[in-house]
This record gives sequence, C-alpha cells and structure tokens, in this order.
Amino acid sequence: MKITPAEFKLLRDFIEAQSGICLKEEKAYLLENRLLPFIEKYKCKDYSELYKIMQNGSVPDLKNRLLDAMTTNETLWFRDTHPYTILKEKILPSFAEAVKNGTKGRIKIWSAASSTGQEPYSIAMTVRDYCMGQTIIKKEQVDIVATDISDTCIYKAMSGKYDAVAMGRGLTQEMLLRHFTKDTPTTYRVNKDIRDMVTFKKFNLQDSPILLEPHFDLIFLRYVAIYFNDDFKHGLYQRFARELAPKGFLVIGAVESLRGLSEDFDMLSHAGGLYYQCKR
Ligand SMILES: C[S@@+](CC[C@H](N)C(=O)[O-])C[C@H]1O[C@@H](n2cnc3c(N)ncnc32)[C@H](O)[C@@H]1O
Repeated sequence: MKITPAEFKLLRDFIEAQSGICLKEEKAYLLENRLLPFIEKYKCKDYSELYKIMQNGSVPDLKNRLLDAMTTNETLWFRDTHPYTILKEKILPSFAEAVKNGTKGRIKIWSAASSTGQEPYSIAMTVRDYCMGQTIIKKEQVDIVATDISDTCIYKAMSGKYDAVAMGRGLTQEMLLRHFTKDTPTTYRVNKDIRDMVTFKKFNLQDSPILLEPHFDLIFLRYVAIYFNDDFKHGLYQRFARELAPKGFLVIGAVESLRGLSEDFDMLSHAGGLYYQCKR
C-alpha cells in the first residue's frame, strides 16, 4: 500500500516529536514498509486510519509499538574495535588512577542506545578482562547501564541470547569461548557473570540523563545521533557535557563528529580512533 505525502508528513512528524528520529522524504518507503504489518493487523484502509487509531488510543500501546518499529537497530560486537582498545588502554587505566588516589569510588558507564545488547556486553567483557589483569578496580565497582527507546531491543538484550547471524558479527573465537555458552543448537547466551554486570532500562534520549543516574564517568553514544537533526544533536551533546562527571569521557560512532555541535569536549585519539573528554 502506498503512503501519500500528507500521510508521510503526519507520521514523520509524530515519530520525530516522540523520539528525535528524523526521516527525510526519500525515506517514505521505510515508513511504508515498517508500518505495513500494522495496517494489515488492524485492517486499516490506509496510513491515515492507522494514524487515527494510534492517536485515539483505541489499540493499547500502539504508539509505542509504531515507534519501536521505526527504530533502526543495526549493531554488532566490538563495533569498530578501537573504542574497546581505547576503553582498555586509556579510559579504564585513567579510572584506575582515580580509584588509586581516592578521587573515585564507583565507576559508572552508560551505553546510551544499546540496541540488542552487543555494545553494553562488549563493554562488560572489556571491563571484566581488564579487571582480571590488575588489582585496583574490581568489576563489582563498575556499574554499566544500557538504555534504548525500543522495548523489543531491551527484551532481547536482557535475554542475552543470540543466533548464529548475530554471533558471526564482530566476535573472535576466543571471546566467544570465554564469554558465551551454547544455549540451543543454533543460539548462544552471554555468560551470567557478564549479564550481571549490565542493567537494562528503557530511556528516551530526549530526556535528561539526570533522570537515569547523575554523573556518568563514560558514555557510549554510538550510531544513534546520525538519526537526529542538528538541533537535537546540539541539545543532546550539551546535556551530556553538563551531566557527565568532571573530565568524563564520551565515545561516539566512527562516522560521527562533534564538529560544529559542541565545544564542551576535548578530542583525543588512540589506536586509530577518536574519543572525547569533557573540558570541565
Ligand atoms: C543503530 S542502533 C546503534 C546501537 C549501538 N549503539 C551500536 O553502535 O552498535 C541505534 C539505536 O538507537 C535507538 N534509538 C533511536 N532513537 C532513540 C531515542 N530517542 N532514545 C533512545 N534510543 C534511541 C534505536 O532504538 C536503536 O536501537
């Protein structure tokens, strides 16, 4: 079923208002394809009718489910590699230094658009392996919070179960053997010690991080700002800079940049990748 320009505008504006996700006109096909199952399920005659039943609340939770369907959840283990090398070789040692000199007790890490969990579990594996190799930070001192706007992603991430396709993306055999257990003939599950290190919550990046937890020491905000417009990104980085712990770290996607969007961070580089540190 074809979406009309007026219907596209209605639904696009709704999605942007609720999540910041900004769909250009050439993405009308995406809206059309992802919302078609709802049209079929609720026997709507067109996209206007779908919009109407969503707005009048006659179908419980429909707003939330439409929004969920419009998220793009592409992710993989140890995405881009360098953020995890930076974490291991730069960021965690700097936290260890602070723990050693008594300026830090607990360490708070946030995976702010965690999708199906590969990012926060990759962080947890890196933290755990780092903690095994030294005596200053214990893994119990590190809180990892993972959030996403998508309920489907949160449930999947919490289960810690992954099929062969997901397992084949970004994991070395060594990491697989160390941190996963075969669950069924075709799926693996992240080991409990790693799952226990991560707390999953639903969170909309339109809201202030202070609602979640004050003063994160490190935020992974990767491959999500690409879906937002510049005003939204500007506000997002401003909030993050304000609410990170002093000299806290920010890691963004390899194709993303703070240029022209935030002056609040120093750009650092290591292992062929960039990361950012709050100036204050
Ligand atoms: C492409 S995935 C990136 C996952 C992971 N950070 C990575 O780099 O592999 C983007 C995620 O952002 C989430 N997202 C989109 N808009 C959001 C919002 N306003 N608040 C929270 N999460 C959002 C989507 O649900 C999706 O799971």
